[in-house]
Amino acid sequence: MRVKFKKGATEYLANLPFHAHVDDFTITQIAHIKSPLVLEIGVGKGDYLLMMAQSYPDYFFIGIELNASVLSIAAQKLATANLTNVLIITGDVKYLLPELKENLFDYIILNHSDPWPKKRHEKRRLTSPLFANEYYKRLKKGGTLIFKTDNDDFANYSFLILNSLPFTELTFNQDYQGDYAFDTKTEYENKFIAKGVKIKMIVGKK
Ligand SMILES: C[S@@+](CC[C@H](N)C(=O)[O-])C[C@H]1O[C@@H](n2cnc3c(N)ncnc32)[C@H](O)[C@@H]1O
Repeated sequence: MRVKFKKGATEYLANLPFHAHVDDFTITQIAHIKSPLVLEIGVGKGDYLLMMAQSYPDYFFIGIELNASVLSIAAQKLATANLTNVLIITGDVKYLLPELKENLFDYIILNHSDPWPKKRHEKRRLTSPLFANEYYKRLKKGGTLIFKTDNDDFANYSFLILNSLPFTELTFNQDYQGDYAFDTKTEYENKFIAKGVKIKMIVGKK
């Protein structure tokens, strides 16, 4: 996601009551939450998180984003909406996952993650085997992993990886029409739909 470096973004985020930095995050910050829990990885400018948190006030949403400048844009939207069911985290999800216990999430969501097409960058793909295993462990039994992408190769790759895990159900929709109940469109999704690109969706149930 191309967003100019925003001076003051880190400070703005640090002063928000619903923000944590991944380096300071501990499981105790969410241990008291009894609602269904959702993790969105790569929040971007936050439209998905905002819409979903508004639509599902009984769920608690955790959104993580690597880029503080981008996350500060999402944070402004969330702050204006006065939501009480969201926590945003600045940082790399690879450092968050080890902090989390197993069987935690009802949903783990990956929307239009960077495809990292070069083989030598495979480890950075957010559906590479190490990441996929971590997600599987951190989903509750009956929990759902949702992956959407505009990229065919990344979709095929991700399906192969996810298919090697013991999900009880795994579906791969190569022309997703936006009709999955627990979903809303993201910034990237809207851009690609406008260009006529088909959206691919993989849903895995543990
Ligand atoms: C292509 S954008 C998609 C943004 C949004 N989900 C959407 O669909 O519009 C991918 C986002 O994931 C973030 N990201 C990439 N790798 C990440 C990681 N390891 N941990 C957290 N966020 C990551 C990027 O900074 C970027 O904002």
